[in-house]
Amino acid sequence: MYKICVLPGDGIGKEVTVEAVKLIQALAEKHHLVFELEEDIVGGTSIDAHGVPITDQVLNKAKAADVVLLGAVGGPKWEGLDYAIRPERALLKLREELGLFANLRPVKVFSSLVHASTLKPEIVDGIDLMVLRELIGGIYFGEPKGVETLPDGTQKGVNTEVYTTPEVERIAHKAFELARKRRKKVLSVDKANVLESSELWRNTVVDVAKDYKDVELDHMYVDNCAMQLIRNPKQFDVIVTTNLFGDILSDEAAMLTGSIGMLPSASLGEKHAMYEPVHGSAPDIEGQNKANPLATILSVGMMMRYTLNLPELADSIEKAVEKVLEAGFRTPDIMSEGCQLVSCTEMGEQVIKNLD
Ligand code: IPM
Ligand code: MN
Repeated sequence: MYKICVLPGDGIGKEVTVEAVKLIQALAEKHHLVFELEEDIVGGTSIDAHGVPITDQVLNKAKAADVVLLGAVGGPKWEGLDYAIRPERALLKLREELGLFANLRPVKVFSSLVHASTLKPEIVDGIDLMVLRELIGGIYFGEPKGVETLPDGTQKGVNTEVYTTPEVERIAHKAFELARKRRKKVLSVDKANVLESSELWRNTVVDVAKDYKDVELDHMYVDNCAMQLIRNPKQFDVIVTTNLFGDILSDEAAMLTGSIGMLPSASLGEKHAMYEPVHGSAPDIEGQNKANPLATILSVGMMMRYTLNLPELADSIEKAVEKVLEAGFRTPDIMSEGCQLVSCTEMGEQVIKNLD
């Protein structure tokens, strides 16, 4: 029996998790497994109900579960709030309190979607890379931070990029371990030509690499990496980088697949794990049944593979998604000529129908 804490959040987060939950239930039935699903609120929805983006009760529920499935948080309604109580805090707090230092964002292009990308098919066909983002350090959490008013009445805004050797070591180990199961190439991305913290990052990764002589290690500055990702994305296997650079590069890499609506993610720590689509709450299409549930559905696949140790279920989810795409079903974000436009709900149903 597995206990899954489901936190749909806001906007389309609510719509895509409905489809993921139906899929989990279908899998449970098919494979005679028991998944205990516990749902609760986070983000703007929690701010409206309790005045805070996540309550201690929900945080404890997340900690007590085997795994967390999250939709998305945020929306224009809560944008003016203080940073300490914005919807995004729920996510950051979950990551921090659960110790989820490693964020895996695999970028794989389904061959039936090569034409959905804004890049030429020959550039994107066959892409299979992994952005490994450090998730609980760097400028997202570094101190000092905040806005202060100076004696002359002007204001100063501060955030601090901080990395310690243990923080870099653990994410570097993760990168090499992942690479060993892939094409044995790690690219560490930094800005070591300008930032001292990046120099420490790079030196630490080089040290850790000594334990992984079978894995090839390269380095790239983040500006160059942003360019290389659209110039020749097939050169990459595992890209390991800081919290902020990983946030930016993974959105860029997502578009190689045609839509950010296709990208799943896993956030892993020593004891806990959380799975979520890389996309946000998309308030512009919320409530219209137009969202692409595949990123969340593929996140369930990652959950089966990395946390619940059910790789055959992960395979069956991925295969079902592939079949549905090959059959021509498309949500609006990946729609192209000659395909059949479907809603979020219909896409979810198609995946379940195609499970073997
Ligand atoms: C992501 C998101 C989050 C982040 C936001 C919503 C806090 O953009 O998961 O990539 O910046 O990490
Ligand atoms: Mn992001």
